[in-house]
Amino acid sequence: MLEEEYDKTRRRLPLHLRRAESERPFTYEIRPVRESDIPDIREIYNHYVTNSVVTFDEKKWTLAQWREKVAFLAKHDMPFLVAEGPSGQILGYALVQPMSAKSAFRYSVENSIYLGHAATGKGLGRALLEALITASEEAGIHQMVAVISDKGAEGSVALHEKLGFVEVGRMGRVGFKFGRWLGTIYLQRQLSPVKKKRGLFGKR
Ligand SMILES: CC(C)(COP(=O)(O)OP(=O)(O)OC[C@H]1O[C@@H](n2cnc3c(N)ncnc32)[C@H](O)[C@@H]1OP(=O)(O)O)[C@@H](O)C(=O)NCCC(=O)NCCS
Repeated sequence: MLEEEYDKTRRRLPLHLRRAESERPFTYEIRPVRESDIPDIREIYNHYVTNSVVTFDEKKWTLAQWREKVAFLAKHDMPFLVAEGPSGQILGYALVQPMSAKSAFRYSVENSIYLGHAATGKGLGRALLEALITASEEAGIHQMVAVISDKGAEGSVALHEKLGFVEVGRMGRVGFKFGRWLGTIYLQRQLSPVKKKRGLFGKR
């Protein structure tokens, strides 16, 4: 055997040692949240609470807080979607919540989207945000706003801009986490609501 042929054979790992995930397609199902998804959602979010400045939360969320949030959003007809992988694990989630508790804001929401670290950069963020926009339009929502950290969230800004969100403003030094000041970037997108009326906060 020539030396170069030997090298070629040698560099090929045995089947059981080759990276399976690179050959496996990245598949998922996007669907409304269920109570049983909460532990995975909590783990995804708390990773960013502890390790990043993309969220201004500094304390990990509890299961009870998430349960309360899921119930509150369901009560107000606010979409909360998850992406479930083939093994049943939640890969990421996207939700909208009222922009304000004041009732005249009832047609406007703030969104939130988080993927597990291993699920980023593969198109899932785009798919989830597109699905969230569609679900929000079906719920009669008119305006969606994203409030994004001005440090470490370049991917989120890029994703929102790709989906038609337009930057409408910035605030400097409004957050303080891990010993440094942080600002926020505001992006807004006009939706095309299907439902004509919304009953949020009992108003029409
Ligand atoms: C931000 C996040 C939701 C984006 O989802 P994603 O699956 O990684 O992004 P996608 O692969 O769907 O990319 C969407 C588009 O944005 C672009 N994009 C993504 N990250 C980018 C980056 N860092 N810089 C430039 N462009 C980027 C992609 O090129 C892609 O464009 P295309 O659809 O035209 O090809 C995801 O990375 C995430 O959860 N990050 C950590 C948590 C976070 O920051 N959440 C947002 C808090 S405001």
